Amino acid sequence: MEIKVLKDYKELSYTVADIVEYQLQEQPLSRLILPTGSTPLGLYKELVNRELDWSAVMTYNLDVYIMNPDHPQSYQTFMKENLFNKINIYPSNCQFPDRNVQLYEERLKGIPVDLCILGIGTNGHIAFNEPGSSFDSRTRVVHLDEQTIQDNSRFFDSVDDIPTQAITMGLGTIMDSKKIVLMANGEHKLNILNVAMNGEVTEDIPASILQNHDNVKVFYCD
Ligand code: GLP
Repeated sequence: MEIKVLKDYKELSYTVADIVEYQLQEQPLSRLILPTGSTPLGLYKELVNRELDWSAVMTYNLDVYIMNPDHPQSYQTFMKENLFNKINIYPSNCQFPDRNVQLYEERLKGIPVDLCILGIGTNGHIAFNEPGSSFDSRTRVVHLDEQTIQDNSRFFDSVDDIPTQAITMGLGTIMDSKKIVLMANGEHKLNILNVAMNGEVTEDIPASILQNHDNVKVFYCD
């Protein structure tokens, strides 16, 4: 698979913002899957600057930690602070997985998602589908890998505060999207990105499932 190498983080953020802007202009009633993490921060900032019309857009987040949604490090707080509170989207159109995983799947099933934006973990996870996740997996409660807990410890004051469980869309759920964009930022992601996009398609590297999708764009900057 082609990995498009971009000049810097600004170009990465602008390139994906262009894709989202085009999607919203072509189809104001778009359904989007959105990621968290440090990688999409520039994208969200750029989308806010562009003052697009989000009034008919529905969003579905990839995953949430199992923790108080009002906690400063929850993914719900992250999305509100970085995007939802700064655009004209209806709060009721911003969906997050919760323990009623069946309901989340049903909401997603009706009409296919138009555009799914992903990051990638250093162990090849997408959303919180850790290595070993079934390619058929759907939204469910998961235990986080040691590696993921370590990687995400930078967002928490103490290692003991880091949640060890999450609710994530499954790999099957993500693959139902019509278009997928994967963003990766930093040299520490380059090796896993190459392995996932050009190595064996295996459940040991969850992101490798994207090789089986016919509309994926992969962008990288160091
Ligand atoms: C978390 C999220 C993933 C994200 C990953 C990478 O684990 N659940 O969806 O892709 O972090 O994060 P970052 O962009 O901070 O490297």
